[in-house]
Formats: sequence, C-alpha cells, structure tokens
Amino acid sequence: MLQIILLLLPGVLSNQWRVNYPPLSLICAARGSDVSIDCRFTHPHEQPVQQVLWCSMRSNHGNCLNEPYVYNSEANNNQKNFQYFGDKTSNCSLLISNINRTHSGEYKFRFITRQDKWTGDPGVNILVDDLRVSMSRSRENGSTMAGDSLNLTCTLSCSGNLADVQWFKNGDPIQHSEPVLTFSRVTAEDSGNYSCSLRNFKTTVSEEITIYIEDVAGSPTILIIVVFLVSLVFITAAVMLMRR
Ligand SMILES: *[C@@H]1O[C@H](CO)[C@@H](O)[C@H](O)[C@H]1NC(C)=O
Ligand SMILES: *[C@@H]1O[C@H](CO)[C@@H](O)[C@H](O)[C@H]1NC(C)=O
Ligand SMILES: *[C@@H]1O[C@H](CO)[C@@H](O)[C@H](O)[C@H]1NC(C)=O
Repeated sequence: MLQIILLLLPGVLSNQWRVNYPPLSLICAARGSDVSIDCRFTHPHEQPVQQVLWCSMRSNHGNCLNEPYVYNSEANNNQKNFQYFGDKTSNCSLLISNINRTHSGEYKFRFITRQDKWTGDPGVNILVDDLRVSMSRSRENGSTMAGDSLNLTCTLSCSGNLADVQWFKNGDPIQHSEPVLTFSRVTAEDSGNYSCSLRNFKTTVSEEITIYIEDVAGSPTILIIVVFLVSLVFITAAVMLMRR
C-alpha cells in the first residue's frame, strides 16, 4: 500500500532510470580547448552506483554494453584526456581536455547498480573544429592600400558568436578581446600575420592570415626627389646662362 502511494508522488516518479545531458543537442568545441559535459543521472534504488562508464560511438556501438570505454571507473588505464568529475549518486559530468577533431562524435553515459544497468541513449554530440580568421575588406579587388578599412574575424564554424578571444600579431599577443578586429584605416604598420585563440586557451590558436598593406606613402617621396632634380637642372642651367 505504501509503495502505491509513493509511486503516485511526482517526486518519486521522477526517480526513474534516466540520464540528462546538456540541453543543447550539439556541443561545439574549438580544437585545443577543454570541454565539460554537464550530466546528471537518477535511478530508483537506494544503493549507490557501483560502476560509471562513458563511451564514444566512434569506438563503441548501441548502448555500449561492452568495452571499449573512454572512461571506466573500474579501470586504471583511462585516457588522460577523459576525466570524470561527477560522482556515484547523481552527477555524471565528464571533462575532455585538449580536445581534437578525432574526439568529435556521440558520447553516452552508462552506470551499473547492484540490481541493474542503464545507458543514457541518445547521447550527447560533440563537434570539434579549428578556429579560423576570416577577412573582409572595403576594397574588393587588388591589394589593400593604406587608408582602406579591413576587418579580421575570429570564427568557429559550428558556433555562433565567440565570447572572449585573444588576438596575435606575428605571434605576439595584442590587447583585444573582441572576436572582430577592426581597422578603420589601415597603415603599412598593420601589415603582418594575424591569428586568434580562445582566451586562456593558447592551444586553440588558429592558422595565421597574412595582411600586406601597400605603402603608398612611397610615391610622394619619389615625387619630391623628381621635382628637386628637375629644379636643380633648371638652376644649373640658369647659373650657366648668367655666367655667359
Ligand atoms: C558536477 O560536479 C562538478 C564538480 O563538483 C560541478 O562542477 C558540476 O557543476 C556538477 N554538475 C552538475 C550538472 O551538477
Ligand atoms: C568592419 O566592421 C565594422 C563594425 O562591425 C563595420 O561597420 C564595417 O562595415 C566593417 N568593415 C568591413 C570592411 O567589413
Ligand atoms: C572585381 O573583379 C571582378 C573580376 O575580376 C570584376 O567582375 C568586378 O567588377 C571587380 N569589382 C570591382 C569593385 O572592381
């Protein structure tokens, strides 16, 4: 009788076999960053869980009934990149450090109690991509001239707007944390190799993009020299004429 009453209580009803992954169906990660998968689980028994496991659909299949696992609480040879920072009661969070493209894919959490086993299916999807710098210029064709406007944008293809980024010019960090680096009027000194990374994750650094700004300041100098030489010829000629 008591059991029937308990079953009717919503709080008890929610204590079913269940794994809750992050609400987003896809986690987009920059290559080289650390990714944590927030995860919670429940089960209807009193006893703590005996074993917790995480598996990847790249190496496993179905409900991951057998090895290999990327994390196994009973194993002592787990990969360094995969750290379980959950517990054996309700938190099944996993941290993947220095993530790379081969880590893209679907991951599932599995747990085993004295009475039964459960796998959270479908799992959580992770997509890993490289950060990239894209360029937009006011001048569509030809080389960039001093005075043109130019924007460099730090992008991650699978993600919307990036928050804090770190920009580099010729490998040296520059003070700018916005994902767009704006040059309203470029000068020859802005020429260089630019790259970006997530702030605090130098390992996510993108490939470099080279911008070269043609130094049009050179032409007035040439003009002055030409004018000077022409005047010199005239003056010399005038002096010679006066001497006659
Ligand atoms: C799980 O535990 C970790 C470490 O204590 C904590 O940082 C994280 O927020 C917890 N996750 C959830 C979903 O409660
Ligand atoms: C650069 O970005 C600014 C601000 O977002 C924008 O107003 C400008 O049109 C952009 N310039 C180019 C060349 O894309
Ligand atoms: C840029 O070059 C393309 C093809 O070379 C040409 O069709 C286009 O008109 C040019 N645009 C400008 C703004 O000069």
